[in-house]
Amino acid sequence: QQNEKESLFIVLEYAQNYFHDLLLKNEEGISVGQSYFIERGFSKAIIEKFNLGYALDSYDDFNKKASLAGFTTEILEKAGLISVKDNQSKIDRFRGRVIFPIHNVAGKPIAFGARILKTDPKAPKYINSPETEIYHKSQIVYGIYQAKNAIRQADNCFLVEGYTDVVSLHQAGIENVVASSGTSLTPEQIRLIRRFSQNITVLYDGDAAGIKASLRGIDLILEEDMNVKSVVFPDGDDPDSYIRKVGSQTFTDYVNASQKDFIRFKTELSLEEIGNDPIKKAGLITDLVESITKIPNPIKRSVFYQEVSTLLQIDENILINEGNKLLRGKN
Ligand code: UTP
Ligand code: MN
Ligand code: MN
Ligand code: MN
Ligand code: MN
Repeated sequence: QQNEKESLFIVLEYAQNYFHDLLLKNEEGISVGQSYFIERGFSKAIIEKFNLGYALDSYDDFNKKASLAGFTTEILEKAGLISVKDNQSKIDRFRGRVIFPIHNVAGKPIAFGARILKTDPKAPKYINSPETEIYHKSQIVYGIYQAKNAIRQADNCFLVEGYTDVVSLHQAGIENVVASSGTSLTPEQIRLIRRFSQNITVLYDGDAAGIKASLRGIDLILEEDMNVKSVVFPDGDDPDSYIRKVGSQTFTDYVNASQKDFIRFKTELSLEEIGNDPIKKAGLITDLVESITKIPNPIKRSVFYQEVSTLLQIDENILINEGNKLLRGKN
């Protein structure tokens, strides 16, 4: 078992180099892959930092090269790099795409995300490695290796949705950023971030899906005894598109000015819908109390009860009583 993990690490490292070299030295890699990254504003330095790559638009070039290098079909398949059909025909998983290696905290590649080059409604935008013995996507966040020191230094972690958000923010000099990679956030991912800071600022895409995911993430973050703030970007922008539009100074100013704690974030999101409807207002308050009860620290809970009381003009003791009822119900 230990041997198999070792072999997986070795083949993933080989694959990372294979994709990276294609991007840097191969004619197709340069004209298709590099052009794509350059168009997105990625520098040579950032390509190096994240070890970005390119997979040829070929049926099985990777399989051929890796087999010649001595890797068995079995290990290539277990690593999620090829698929084997009818026990014989072998196809590369990643073809004609740019490659984002996913690294563990120590910086070793454990999986890949691969983006299509042109929008195609028939093909998925990203193809990712499957779960393997060394890759459990619920336990890793993209960019943690490149971000960990900056997270510690800033004592804050920006949490974004996508690979390109991470790379683009680094490119702009903002390095304390990791991505949940589109899947819903897990407690393991939050605990991984918590090793470096207790503070998370959620910067999800400014669309309905992003806002919904932010709301789901908030309660999980509170449950891990961490502090959370959220930002919504205007006009459906994501951090990558927004920072390219406005530059890093305006981006930072926007984040600082519009980040909200979960109470204000939830309240402002539902304010319009609530209007003067007392039932809906009660629903919001119940929801806020529920979130507050996720916080393990009673002193922090008390601060947030006060905030809700002031913000929504409701007796603090009622909130506390309701919260305590919920807490008792949990045990
Ligand atoms: P997005 O659709 O927001 O993509 O998905 P993006 O990161 O902004 O990418 P660009 O800017 O269009 O290139 C957010 C994340 O969800 C995962 C990826 O990790 C992606 O970065 N995702 C998305 C997938 O795994 N598969 C998909 O088909 C789409
Ligand atoms: Mn290199
Ligand atoms: Mn999105
Ligand atoms: Mn994007
Ligand atoms: Mn996006």
